[in-house]
Amino acid sequence: MAAEEPKIEVLFSSADIAKRNTELAEEISRDMGSDVLVIAVLKGSFVFAADLIRTLHHAGVRPQIDFMALSSYGDKSISSGTVVITRDIVDTVKGRKVLLIDDILESGRTMEFAARELLDRGAEAVKTCLMLDKKGKRIVDFEADFIGFDCPDLFVIGYGLDFAHYYRELPYIGHIVSK
Ligand code: IMP
Ligand code: MG
Repeated sequence: MAAEEPKIEVLFSSADIAKRNTELAEEISRDMGSDVLVIAVLKGSFVFAADLIRTLHHAGVRPQIDFMALSSYGDKSISSGTVVITRDIVDTVKGRKVLLIDDILESGRTMEFAARELLDRGAEAVKTCLMLDKKGKRIVDFEADFIGFDCPDLFVIGYGLDFAHYYRELPYIGHIVSK
């Protein structure tokens, strides 16, 4: 039998997210034009990226899409602070305008690393789009170009974000208030 469902408080509903994705796509289209290489950071951004590329289409962007998996945990429990690529992109970024998409900005290490890596490989420009921003958690000096929502300092789940590999499928973003 399935375990008892925990109580989840909704922070951003699927309607909130859909509305914001439409606005974000307009901002990105105005800033970057139509020829963009989207790189979605796995796993957390896959739902957000899948929705955003369709709002981008409506905003006139004709992106190519690639994926990259990054890990900042060299050790099982302690964040090592160094980010490693665990699955690399296939496309070349040389001379491309890249839109890097991730789920949530915390320390800023993941995005700072990825943006620098892609510029080192010859990308013409790298812009970053984050679904959520936990501003109070920053460790490195990094700010995103496009942000979906400011996130309260809570552990959030859903819409691609997991807790112990569960909850990614939730159509909203929330946090667990009780078990
Ligand atoms: P950072 O900016 O390098 O610290 O990266 C933050 C990463 O930690 C995100 O890409 C998520 O994978 C994960 N993360 C941070 N906060 C949360 C949360 O509240 N829920 C789920 N995952 C989180
Ligand atoms: Mg992540």
